[in-house]
Amino acid sequence: MLYIYPRKRKTYNKVQTTIMSYNLLKGKKGIIFGALDEKSIAWRTALRCHEEGAQLVLTNAPVAMRMGEINKLAEAVNAPVIPADVTNMDDLKKLFEGAMAHFGGKIDFVLHSVAMGMNVRKGKHYTDLDYNFSQKTLDISSLSLHRVLKTAWDMDALNEWGSVAALTYIAAQRVFPDYNEMADAKALLESVARSFGYHYGVRKKVRVNTVSQSPVKTTAGGGVKGFDGFMSYAEKMSPLGNASADNCADYLVTLFSDLTKMVTMQNLFHDGGFSFTGVTQEVIEQMEK
Ligand SMILES: NC(=O)c1ccc[n+]([C@@H]2O[C@H](COP(=O)([O-])OP(=O)(O)OC[C@H]3O[C@@H](n4cnc5c(N)ncnc54)[C@H](O)[C@@H]3O)[C@@H](O)[C@H]2O)c1
Repeated sequence: MLYIYPRKRKTYNKVQTTIMSYNLLKGKKGIIFGALDEKSIAWRTALRCHEEGAQLVLTNAPVAMRMGEINKLAEAVNAPVIPADVTNMDDLKKLFEGAMAHFGGKIDFVLHSVAMGMNVRKGKHYTDLDYNFSQKTLDISSLSLHRVLKTAWDMDALNEWGSVAALTYIAAQRVFPDYNEMADAKALLESVARSFGYHYGVRKKVRVNTVSQSPVKTTAGGGVKGFDGFMSYAEKMSPLGNASADNCADYLVTLFSDLTKMVTMQNLFHDGGFSFTGVTQEVIEQMEK
């Protein structure tokens, strides 16, 4: 029997929406990387996965844990928190070991919701990159997906038909000057998802995708120069408007569910139509003023 029950929840759209819970992730076990505070896409996704019946393990960099915020989420979704720096293979191994011990078995899904632009953070222009920072940026934001997948691969930690998703941005395909080095980092992240997705698909039917999300005002998102202008431009250029973090969480639930078993190696735009819109009436009217 399928139980469908409405739940009230708060959203960052300032409206209370009633969403349905479909038990889409009942019996599934997942690791969620990158919940920093309640605005984080990973945070919203953890809440949504929990509502859909998943069991979770949360993780973030040890330095991010010091804020202590993640403990509130851990309580809300009844999940342990296992610290791991995504650039450290020992941390990742301990994370997967800890998660499998907690679940008493293998893992069904992983959310990679991690990024850090070192040059962006230090105010370095794209034409004046510090390459030591660049390497760190790529290690944290892109190669970390390879590290996570390789750790799971070596430990055979994922169940057949498992699902891995990582978050990306359209600056990987089109130029958004202030997105800086993160454009290159996202292009590499998407490539890793495709390349590892091939091998994991052949070996274990595991799917690997990236979700290219609308701008959202989070700690990572807000770090991009001119973010507010950027966000309202995207809103005007998207027939459906910008997708919120809660919308993204809903979409990720479908990717972790059994309803998307044959989707892999894709970069999936979740952006209210922004990626395929040339211009909108709203933008034309603004230009005519
Ligand atoms: N906010 C946006 O506009 C937007 C749009 C598209 C894609 N994304 C992507 O979504 C993902 C999540 O970002 P967010 O917007 O929720 O911001 P966020 O700042 O809440 O999340 C980023 C997370 O990365 C973690 N992190 C950084 N370095 C780490 C390390 N060495 N080891 C482990 N974790 C580390 C941080 O602690 C943080 O939890 C990122 O990949 C981001 O690029 C964001």
